Amino acid sequence: MSSENQHHLPTSTAYDLWSTVYDTDGNVLQQLDDKYIATHLPPLITPGNTIIELGCGTGRNTLKLAELGAHVLAVDNSRGMLDKLEAKILENKDLKDRVEVFVVDLNTFLAVSDGGDEDGFKTAVEEKKNNISGVVSTLVLEHLTLSTFFSVVSNILPPSGWLLLTNMHWEMGAISSAGFNDPTSGKKVKPVSMNHTKDEILAEAEKWGFVVDGGVEEEGIRDLEHAKGFGRRAEKWVGVLMHFGVVFRKV
Ligand SMILES: C[S@@+](CC[C@H](N)C(=O)[O-])C[C@H]1O[C@@H](n2cnc3c(N)ncnc32)[C@H](O)[C@@H]1O
Repeated sequence: MSSENQHHLPTSTAYDLWSTVYDTDGNVLQQLDDKYIATHLPPLITPGNTIIELGCGTGRNTLKLAELGAHVLAVDNSRGMLDKLEAKILENKDLKDRVEVFVVDLNTFLAVSDGGDEDGFKTAVEEKKNNISGVVSTLVLEHLTLSTFFSVVSNILPPSGWLLLTNMHWEMGAISSAGFNDPTSGKKVKPVSMNHTKDEILAEAEKWGFVVDGGVEEEGIRDLEHAKGFGRRAEKWVGVLMHFGVVFRKV
């Protein structure tokens, strides 16, 4: 469904377009995510272990994982977003050796055998299964049903592995969804998006054998003073919880 000023597109098409400005458009949610990741990711990483990143995008967090010494299996279904990631790792041989990139659609991954990247990813997971310690997925969950997401994680993560999950907060999701202003068309481009509440997420996680390890952290822009640290786009979000992060363990 599209209107004069909004263009609703399939998720991978929307992100192919968004990839041109994704790293530079001053997204407040990404900045809140950076803060959560800076605190919670490093203690989870053992150098040399394999981490799977679902919906890695342009590699905002893939590079952090590789810099912490992890071997990363990075998947996404937007070729445009992955092109940006691949350009970044090409510049650095150490990181290139630590990151394997696959074009995978998480919606069809478990059902499909395509003879291509999806099979390549399944093979890599099988080969590395004794070395996989965690799954990272940041700001992706709003594009998937909860059962799709947790079924994939449950399939690829060995018992006692961890899942670091962040997403748009349900309070922000009730009044907004992912999207960007396309400088080419002048329209707001919107991928497929669904709002998931805390209770729904925790209930689905439990169904697939995941328990919260620590707590669920909820963050937003507290006041105008706080907004100043996040650029001009932050003011409109004062008082709204925008981001949540949680670490689960698979039991
Ligand atoms: C908001 S971006 C987040 C990218 C990155 N994780 C980050 O935090 O910057 C959401 C990403 O999820 C990916 N994505 C959405 N639906 C997907 C699906 N069904 N399969 C694979 N990737 C998907 C998009 O292509 C996009 O790169």
